[in-house]
Amino acid sequence: MSASIVITENNAGKYFRLMRLDASASITAFECRIGEYTDYLKEEALRAQVDHVAITWLLLEETSGEIAAYMSLITDAVKLSTAEKELHRLDYPFKTIPAIKIGKLAVCEAFRQRYRGLGRLMIYQAAQIATDNVNDYCAARFLTVDADIEHDPGVLAFYEKTGFVPNTELSGKHRKTLSMRLDLYA
Ligand SMILES: CC(C)(COP(=O)(O)OP(=O)(O)OC[C@H]1O[C@@H](n2cnc3c(N)ncnc32)[C@H](O)[C@@H]1OP(=O)(O)O)[C@@H](O)C(=O)NCCC(=O)NCCS
Repeated sequence: MSASIVITENNAGKYFRLMRLDASASITAFECRIGEYTDYLKEEALRAQVDHVAITWLLLEETSGEIAAYMSLITDAVKLSTAEKELHRLDYPFKTIPAIKIGKLAVCEAFRQRYRGLGRLMIYQAAQIATDNVNDYCAARFLTVDADIEHDPGVLAFYEKTGFVPNTELSGKHRKTLSMRLDLYA
């Protein structure tokens, strides 16, 4: 097997571009190793976008136009404990802080074999959208995710490596997922 190419935010533009999902996108070839994520893109994502429930972004390979990864973004609010608020220097009387949530994230398995760093790139792209676009109009301090540890416990390590920390308030309550946050302005 040939060595995989390491993708970073610096070289990503040479290989990939981000595109908002629309009806013209060719989604049929996309296969994630977890079927639920494949099915979501093929069966739900466009409807969710039309209904203003989730916006889906596709990572397209420049040479083939194929979908290497996707993520669905939604608005969110995260409840922080007093200690967590202190950690982020958020001295406010309310518990809930605004956020942008990665509702779904998946890398196409064929692309995961050829490239390393696509998941990390998608986190970077989500952070860019939150800081460069969303924050011009409304505030979002964190990027959040419910890490799907039911399908793959290893996903926790992926999110920790990309800068997320677990939220104490919701940890342990939902055993299938672990609520996590990344400070966009740390
Ligand atoms: C989780 C997922 C998005 C990660 O994408 P990826 O392109 O494989 O990840 P990257 O190559 O960017 O990995 C970044 C780092 O996380 C690590 N990592 C990635 N996936 C991991 C896993 N499942 N278990 C442990 N570590 C993992 C990588 O080894 C890498 O570490 P390094 O920086 O030390 O080299 C991808 O595996 C996927 O689509 N999984 C199925 C769907 C899914 O679980 N989505 C998340 C739902 S919340």
